[in-house]
Amino acid sequence: MIRNVTSHAEASDRIRVVSPLSREAEPAKIRINNLTKEFHTKDKIFCAIDDVSLEIAPGTFFLIVGPSGCGKTTLLRILAGLDQPTCGSIEINQTDRNRPCNSMVFQGESIFPWMTVWDNAAYGLKMRNVSKVEIKEVVGHYLDRTGLSKFAHAYPHQLSGGMKQRVSIARAFANDPEVLLMDEPFSALDEQNRLLLQQELLRIWEETKKTVLFITHSVDEAVTLGDKIMVMTAHPGRTKALIDVSFERPRSVLELRARPEYGELVYRIWGYLRDEVQHAKADAESGVMKS
Ligand SMILES: Nc1ncnc2c1ncn2[C@@H]1O[C@H](COP(=O)(O)OP(=O)(O)O)[C@@H](O)[C@H]1O
Ligand SMILES: [Mg+2]
Repeated sequence: MIRNVTSHAEASDRIRVVSPLSREAEPAKIRINNLTKEFHTKDKIFCAIDDVSLEIAPGTFFLIVGPSGCGKTTLLRILAGLDQPTCGSIEINQTDRNRPCNSMVFQGESIFPWMTVWDNAAYGLKMRNVSKVEIKEVVGHYLDRTGLSKFAHAYPHQLSGGMKQRVSIARAFANDPEVLLMDEPFSALDEQNRLLLQQELLRIWEETKKTVLFITHSVDEAVTLGDKIMVMTAHPGRTKALIDVSFERPRSVLELRARPEYGELVYRIWGYLRDEVQHAKADAESGVMKS
């Protein structure tokens, strides 16, 4: 079992990819144990995440919703191995050593501007020395699924914001990671494009049923996409509520909105979130969030 780490010297032990041979059959794909993250700045210690524990079963589309500044991106960066927790640990249960542990889709533009759509989507596979035949098949498939086949030779500056995010999504799925980490990937898009991309993402996800950890500040988006939703508190980020979303799949993003249960769930989640949004606003106004 993984150790509970509390000293700074042991930081690198806190993120662990669990190989198939190293533990008994384990249902959780992602396990977060008492995770705390502090940022040490010149004159203070700022606690961004406070003692978050979570288990995410394989194949779950897991949503995290919380006010701005509550530590959502920090949590995802730790899961992606881009940052270290201060205390606690995370585990990602890796079932296939040949696959990357995670792929990330960010809010902003995360594709390479000097590469074509095709080369961007193929990037992860090329890095892993996958055969040309397989790259052609896999990238061709995901460009098709994201409606980008006609733009395979275009460069990012020739694409709209929605199409750039489609390239990121195609690249992430083509990479075939153990878990997919998505940080507000649609938040910069207008509402019409957001709905389209949500529907496309659901359709692609249905084919693979990958474990997804998707961050959003939109309650609508959380209810539309998620199997489970974690609501986070305002600074410091803690777990406020865990909610199951039981709408059947496949889902129609538009039809869902016509259902009374949809409105009821959105309303219920806003009940948890309302105070946290107020706290985040008060923190921002009083300067607490400036670090
Ligand atoms: N490298 C850093 N140094 C200091 N403070 C940071 C750093 N990264 C994030 N923070 C602070 O941690 C808090 C959580 O940030 P973040 O995870 O980006 O929030 P969210 O994604 O929920 O909006 C914010 O107050 C932010 O200013
Ligand atoms: Mg963020």
